[in-house]
Amino acid sequence: MVHASARHFQIRSYKTSIDNLSASIRACVRCAALVKCRSQAVPGAGAVPAEVAFVGLAPGRFGGDRTGVPFEGDRSGELLRRMIRDVGLRSVFITNVVRCNPRDARGRNRDPSASEIANCRGYLAAEMELARPRLVVCLGRIAWRELAGRERPFTPGAANPTIASGLRLWPMYHPGYVIRGAYSEKSYRRDFARMARIVHAGRIGTPD
Ligand code: URA
Repeated sequence: MVHASARHFQIRSYKTSIDNLSASIRACVRCAALVKCRSQAVPGAGAVPAEVAFVGLAPGRFGGDRTGVPFEGDRSGELLRRMIRDVGLRSVFITNVVRCNPRDARGRNRDPSASEIANCRGYLAAEMELARPRLVVCLGRIAWRELAGRERPFTPGAANPTIASGLRLWPMYHPGYVIRGAYSEKSYRRDFARMARIVHAGRIGTPD
């Protein structure tokens, strides 16, 4: 889980510039297994400062790993970006918990390990500090746990944001979950519309 002290430590070391931070992420070699299988490390991208930040899991094998941009080039990204556009959100920052595509021995996507998540933790904290989003949408359980902590249940459809890690957090299903048919696109669209209504109505401010 991201803590304020970690954020302040990281922000100083990245000299408060998103470009410096992104360059550090691209050059990262902390996880030997990921360095071996990735095409590239993928920093967050979008507006800084941002109204809303979206945090996914890790760059997709056919998306960010190839394009260098989170949620770009694959079906999850296409769905996410369509939803963002359709609800009229313009000032968004999109990133991931882990910056390299994790693959198993057969080359298939796998979940990142706890140590891989820990190695990327400071990057996410620094990005949030720089983007200063009014709302952080956690796409899926792993992003939620990373920012909200394990003790808070992942409950997409909640009526209000949760404040944790100095951020206003909003749980949502990962777009891949919708693509796999586990949740309907109609319900996903409704969830996005509800989240955007809160953002547009200005019912969120900066966490105290
Ligand atoms: N692409 C990303 O950038 N993140 C995901 O979690 C899935 C696809």
